[in-house]
Amino acid sequence: MDIDILDTLYLFQKEHQMAVKTLLMIGGSGMAGGWIKRWTESFSDRVQIVGLCDVLPEVLENQGQTLGLGQDQLFTDFQEAVEKIRADFCGVATPPPFHSPAVIAALEAGMPVICEKPIGDTLEAAKAMVQVSQKTGLPCTIIQNYRYARNKQEIIRIRDEGRLGRLQHIMGRYACDYREYGAWGKNWRHDMEFGLLFEGSVHHFDMLRFLSGGDCETLTGFGWNPEWSSFKHPSSGLYLMRMDNGVHTCYEGNSSAAGITNCWHREHYRLEFEAGCVEIAGGNTVTIHRIGQDPEVYEAPEIPYEGHDHLFDEFLNWLDGGAPSDTRIEDNIKSFALVIAAMETTLDGQPKQIADYLSDLA
Ligand SMILES: NC(=O)c1ccc[n+]([C@@H]2O[C@H](COP(=O)([O-])OP(=O)(O)OC[C@H]3O[C@@H](n4cnc5c(N)ncnc54)[C@H](O)[C@@H]3O)[C@@H](O)[C@H]2O)c1
Repeated sequence: MDIDILDTLYLFQKEHQMAVKTLLMIGGSGMAGGWIKRWTESFSDRVQIVGLCDVLPEVLENQGQTLGLGQDQLFTDFQEAVEKIRADFCGVATPPPFHSPAVIAALEAGMPVICEKPIGDTLEAAKAMVQVSQKTGLPCTIIQNYRYARNKQEIIRIRDEGRLGRLQHIMGRYACDYREYGAWGKNWRHDMEFGLLFEGSVHHFDMLRFLSGGDCETLTGFGWNPEWSSFKHPSSGLYLMRMDNGVHTCYEGNSSAAGITNCWHREHYRLEFEAGCVEIAGGNTVTIHRIGQDPEVYEAPEIPYEGHDHLFDEFLNWLDGGAPSDTRIEDNIKSFALVIAAMETTLDGQPKQIADYLSDLA
């Protein structure tokens, strides 16, 4: 091929990649409202929202006005939305029971999908999503925003560069004061089954996979609901995991915290390495303890994109032919399986082998 043709091809591909992608959003307020703000404020040169679906007409009206959408671009039914709007991709940020039907409908209609955590509300629903993503060959990724924080990324560097030698175990602590009904943003989180696990611990189990660098082999533990809890199901639990790289993890989850809190973005993680231990909690501070020495305290370096912004950028790059998202659905189901295993061990007190939950997936 001569140079002119190669140049033209390159320019065409570049132009094609730079083209603004169209987005159908399912969900318009709550976390979905946050997504819309991000897409329009931080990604307006790469993404344009061309359709919106929400079950609440007032949400549709308000967001429709903000986004300049006509009546033919607003829907109360996701099925109708995916039939009528052919966007470059679809975003789903509704409560968990509505993820699976909307994601599957969007994939079947030919749209790649980016979806909020947890994958779904049941293992069957989540597996159906994985299977449709595999069948259609379309990208599907799940939000795990907490991985993309400066202090977490620094821990990965400490581990991978072997700065403190080998890692033996990790303690993770989440504790929020949600003793008042409704304190956790929405009433449904207090009423749903195993809200701690599905809405909260899914982040922390995923984080323990991320920080350990392994996948869970065996999970065991307990969950309970204190008499003074504002939840219908266990607000609290202690779970142990043995990972397939030999690292052990221990997780404390508490949505009825009344003393020391480690709530969202301030969860406490302590990693025990061969030559010292590392602690992180809120902010960007990393503390390294070595016996006989003063603690080494420093700010983790900046990262290009944090939280959702990282995931949005990574997903758009994937659509342009870049690497698949680290939290693509095929990988993230390994974090979601831990929620199901923790729920079952809470109910029957038996240790769970995670392979048993995923053996029927390709
Ligand atoms: N990644 C995070 O840090 C984080 C934080 C909070 C919530 N979330 C996740 O975001 C999702 C939404 O949580 P939320 O608190 O924003 O919920 P929410 O109850 O506020 O619902 C979000 C929006 O979805 C709409 N909606 C509900 N059912 C719908 C349906 N069937 N079709 C279309 N729209 C529908 C609601 O009207 C609302 O506008 C959940 O999966 C939750 O786990 C993630």
